[in-house]
Amino acid sequence: MPSTDLVSREGGADERQIISAFGVAMPRLIYGTAWKRERTAAIVELALRQGFRGVDTACQPKHYNERGVGEGLAAAFGTGLARSETYVQTKFTPFAGQDPNDVPYDPKASLSRQVLQSFQASLRNLRTDYLDGLLLHSPYPDDKDTLEAWRAMESLYDKGGVRQLGLSNCYELPRLESLCRNARIKPAAIQNRFYAKTRYDKDIRAFCRESGIIYQSFWTLTANPEVLAAPDLIELAAKYGRSPAQMFFRYLTQLDIACLTGTSSKDHMRQDLSIFEFRLSPAECESLGALLLRSP
Ligand SMILES: NC(=O)c1ccc[n+]([C@@H]2O[C@H](COP(=O)([O-])OP(=O)(O)OC[C@H]3O[C@@H](n4cnc5c(N)ncnc54)[C@H](OP(=O)(O)O)[C@@H]3O)[C@@H](O)[C@H]2O)c1
Repeated sequence: MPSTDLVSREGGADERQIISAFGVAMPRLIYGTAWKRERTAAIVELALRQGFRGVDTACQPKHYNERGVGEGLAAAFGTGLARSETYVQTKFTPFAGQDPNDVPYDPKASLSRQVLQSFQASLRNLRTDYLDGLLLHSPYPDDKDTLEAWRAMESLYDKGGVRQLGLSNCYELPRLESLCRNARIKPAAIQNRFYAKTRYDKDIRAFCRESGIIYQSFWTLTANPEVLAAPDLIELAAKYGRSPAQMFFRYLTQLDIACLTGTSSKDHMRQDLSIFEFRLSPAECESLGALLLRSP
């Protein structure tokens, strides 16, 4: 069982990544592929060419074109990028999160079969023989079902089909604690909405830190317009000659949060990736942290 002290918050020599408790290098900025539809392949290839080394997708045709992600990855691999340099993460989405007319597995099968079928579809779509991360897209209302799906994910881990497991959209700490208590293979990552309504998942993030789980954020920019417009952040952005979005991403990556960004703009991709060119001081981080505490 990997131990939490294996988590290297510094990411070894490369500040752009965090080494997980399972020894997997996870970029601190992960390219998110939702809602790109037929543009997915071209945009994923563009993101990889700009320097992204991690992609997040889901076997959920309602919001993600996972096959397009595979096409984009294949195009980048065809021109020199190695699969081993790339962190590929997808999700098993429970039936409640799927379009009932376009479910990528047999919804009448047992939960374990659904997980297996979804995983096999992901491998085909992504044109790979292993995943770096497989997340359960959301817990089930009943913890018993969550554990059944998790057991199926554990057996994929055992067989070497996936290097680490994770959970998304889990906003209740007791549920996460329960999964961690019962899981044989512990979650390596939690992917959640990062916003004021959940107090920025303060307790969940503290638990993740203690347990060696990497916290991944989404809605990071879109759900935080007040933070991005705050005078303290604008002032700091001016000092560094960066945009408010860059400052916020930099701050969060320094807190060891792996941020999802799904920008379609080449300029924003470059700006996002260039945040590792500078580093905020502890006092500056503290002043940005105070902004989150003040948020409504
Ligand atoms: N687990 C889940 O349930 C879940 C739910 C939602 C999302 N996700 C994941 O998270 C990814 C990101 O989604 P998101 O909801 O956080 O939002 P997003 O799709 O990344 O959208 C960010 C928005 O901010 C704008 N933006 C402005 N400046 C930017 C900058 N410097 N860098 C990046 N964007 C900038 C973008 O516009 P431009 O395109 O013009 O830059 C875009 O409209 C998704 O693709 C998906 O992989 C997961």
